[in-house]
Amino acid sequence: MAQARAAGKTVALVPTMGNLHAGHMALVAAARKQADFVITSIFVNPLQFGPNEDLEAYPRTFDEDCKLLQSDGCDAVFAPSVEAIYGNNTEQQSRIHVPGVSDNYCGASRPGHFDGVATIVCKLLNLCSPDLAFFGLKDYQQFLVIQKMVRDLAMNVQIAGVEIVREENGLAMSSRNGYLSPEQRQQAAAIHQCLQATAAELRSGNRNFQALEASARTLLEQAGLQADYYAICNASNLQAATPGDDRLVILAAAYLGPSRLIDNLRLTL
Ligand code: PAF
Repeated sequence: MAQARAAGKTVALVPTMGNLHAGHMALVAAARKQADFVITSIFVNPLQFGPNEDLEAYPRTFDEDCKLLQSDGCDAVFAPSVEAIYGNNTEQQSRIHVPGVSDNYCGASRPGHFDGVATIVCKLLNLCSPDLAFFGLKDYQQFLVIQKMVRDLAMNVQIAGVEIVREENGLAMSSRNGYLSPEQRQQAAAIHQCLQATAAELRSGNRNFQALEASARTLLEQAGLQADYYAICNASNLQAATPGDDRLVILAAAYLGPSRLIDNLRLTL
């Protein structure tokens, strides 16, 4: 990387927690288009998992990940140990809190999650000093949290969002889909179907946001999922949508068997 920098090349970072799938590879492909040298980081970040979450079970597939990255032209992999990043006392670790956009939705359901994400992303950016960093828009709230952190702290990096990659049935790709049985994968497609149905209503002029949210929640439950949240929001600040908003995001999170799945759909009216 030092050589690439010295030669005046642009450097991109793709932060991941490994277990790479087509969604991650779309990030690498986008990074390759816009930068000369691409680093992918692989780090399962304990700081962003709650005490009863899946930190231990989270799939770790380092060798396969490296093969994929090599065949797709990633230039370097950065895979530090937990000790290298946090020493042996994570409690004493300074943390970044991004107020506002991190408060609701995943922030409310997973207390401390976005502080953990902001902290590790800040640290990875400091360690790798990229010109650009790429994040998937499936984690839309995370994307806004990182954008705000970078703006608020005057960090010298450009943040890019990459569109969601979906399975054939519409299910957004995620490492946590690996926890689902084949039947549950089919059931999980209901999330994307609900998002599309809500978007169609919004596009046809329906502004009864609460009724739209309630009927989507009912549809999710009928498909056997337990809705965590389903919310139509202003796409810039994640406040509840108002009839005057023209850039919206529909955010969804639902439990299915062992997985908590999230998805979203952004639309301009
Ligand atoms: O989106 C993820 O995989 C993680 O939250 C990230 C951005 C790599 C930070 O650990």
